[in-house]
Amino acid sequence: MTTHEFLPGAARQAAQSPSPETAGGPHAAGAAHTTRVDLTGRTALVTGAASGIGRACALRLADAGASVRLVDLDGEALGTLAEQGVGEAVVLDLTDLDAAEEAARGADIVVNNAGVQTVAPVQDFPPERFSLILRLMVESPFRVVRGALPHMYARGWGRVVNISSVHGLRASAYKSAYVTAKHGLEGFSKVVALEGAAHGVTSNCVNPGYVRTPLVERQIAEQAAAHGIAEERVVSEVLLARTPLKRLIEPSEVAELVAYLCGEDASFVNGASLPVDGAWSAS
Ligand SMILES: NC(=O)c1ccc[n+]([C@@H]2O[C@H](COP(=O)([O-])OP(=O)(O)OC[C@H]3O[C@@H](n4cnc5c(N)ncnc54)[C@H](O)[C@@H]3O)[C@@H](O)[C@H]2O)c1
Repeated sequence: MTTHEFLPGAARQAAQSPSPETAGGPHAAGAAHTTRVDLTGRTALVTGAASGIGRACALRLADAGASVRLVDLDGEALGTLAEQGVGEAVVLDLTDLDAAEEAARGADIVVNNAGVQTVAPVQDFPPERFSLILRLMVESPFRVVRGALPHMYARGWGRVVNISSVHGLRASAYKSAYVTAKHGLEGFSKVVALEGAAHGVTSNCVNPGYVRTPLVERQIAEQAAAHGIAEERVVSEVLLARTPLKRLIEPSEVAELVAYLCGEDASFVNGASLPVDGAWSAS
């Protein structure tokens, strides 16, 4: 299925944007991919495909030849992607768990990505919001994988990629539901890895730090208003305070790792949690 090759150094350099340092790396300007993955004949379901990391994953997997099922609440954005030929739009609220499971039937690849964030101290955290976050970010991935596994097992091949977070490995104050959900997703991913191994199915987590997406842009705006400081200061002094590499990650950088995990070269990477965090979790 795959060419088992990486572009040689010179070609990789040529594929990069003219000023990777100032543009935030080769992915900031939408440069050519460096990992060759051939997913021809595979069906990939991506949740939260309308925006941010999910959108980048959908584009990347489609580019690798997969037929992509784009799942999201946002019908308008999905419609645009479908019109561009990226994949088939499935407008769905993933907290409808039966519908989530049904949507995953027949998928060879599942990228569990949809997520939301709420920031509040535990004593003020709205209980219904806590429940919704666990439903969307733990129960729904369980139901999506539950729906997809019979087909994967029948074919003897499958890939589950769970978009976790550094918050699946570490905690931050005021993010109780999110941190709880991501830690839950980590555990679920490992169980799928153990059960799926004998069937050619791998399950891994990808653990980004702060990625330049609408989810983070909303947090930046809220924190700037709450603290009465400029948005640039929120990024450098709050979000990236623990990150040695002082820039936001681009969605395409996360998607590149997801594509690698979906390819043949990653068949022995199973049950892993892979930080893409500029060494945030190393400290
Ligand atoms: N942005 C970051 O810094 C960052 C870092 C680490 C992990 N993550 C994780 O990456 C994933 C994607 O985050 P993002 O930053 O791209 O967010 P985003 O807000 O840009 O996109 C999330 C998408 O999920 C969809 N969605 C939300 N609730 C849904 C529901 N009930 N049913 C169907 N679709 C729904 C939204 O419509 C949206 O298109 C999340 O799981 C998030 O926790 C993000």
